[in-house]
Amino acid sequence: MKQYNTSKAIRSELEQLRKNSATVGFVPTMGALHQGHLALIKRAKAENKFVVCSIFVNPLQFNRQEDLKSYPNRMEQDKKMLESVNCDYLFTPSREDLYAKAPNLDFEFGSLGVGMEAEYRPGHFEGVAAVIDRFLDVLQPDRAYFGEKDYQQLAIVKWLVEQKDSNTEIVGCETERFPNGLAMSSRNYNLKEAEFEQASEIYKLMQYCKRQLHQKTPQELSTYAFEKLKEDFQPEYFTIVDEETLKPIQSWSDTAKPRVFVAAYLSSVRLIDNMSLID
Ligand code: PAF
Repeated sequence: MKQYNTSKAIRSELEQLRKNSATVGFVPTMGALHQGHLALIKRAKAENKFVVCSIFVNPLQFNRQEDLKSYPNRMEQDKKMLESVNCDYLFTPSREDLYAKAPNLDFEFGSLGVGMEAEYRPGHFEGVAAVIDRFLDVLQPDRAYFGEKDYQQLAIVKWLVEQKDSNTEIVGCETERFPNGLAMSSRNYNLKEAEFEQASEIYKLMQYCKRQLHQKTPQELSTYAFEKLKEDFQPEYFTIVDEETLKPIQSWSDTAKPRVFVAAYLSSVRLIDNMSLID
């Protein structure tokens, strides 16, 4: 695996590859890799000639300084994991390099940028869109891969690519889970052993909603689950929305594609998850 630290160097390497008509898949990460990231790399490997993974903890997408400081850093383990799945390129730019030109943070996401993460992490998606905008300009990948665990982020990135009229195809990949249902996430590295089991309650409540679809109203299910979460978590939201507009639904007839979204703290670890309520 070749590692590049500057936009200029990786850009010229990829230009060479493209001259030979090679396709490039891109997996952006903030490090602290887990099997979910490796699944994205494997998919990118299967669908492209070369794969670039970036590790960059993007300060612009953190609305709380403590969150940025406590973000796990595991660069040495990350490199070994990337090598184990034959990733071709690792891109680790500095802030100065990536943001040499002041980033644009002025986006109009419409309903995608209103509730849930946008509400509880103001400025978060502006930071995500800014960094992805920059990465796409530098790398110009044929495809870029994102996990559905960050479903709202995936929707925002698809929106961005349309706005930019970019040629990159955005590929959403299913959330990888542990056997107890907990979604794989870099933040799990900060969970204590006992919390790992507790954290699966989020998955169980989403599954409960799926089983109860049409038996109770969306509001009844959200309220029940939110109250239940309060026993062990500090929940921020538990909400059922239309999966395309991300607007909350009042009744099941409001959408053909209901999806449940959750954010909750388990002690100091913020967990998010989501799940389609239909098969
Ligand atoms: O999902 C993440 O890890 C980040 O939001 C991303 C897409 C790498 C942008 O910094």
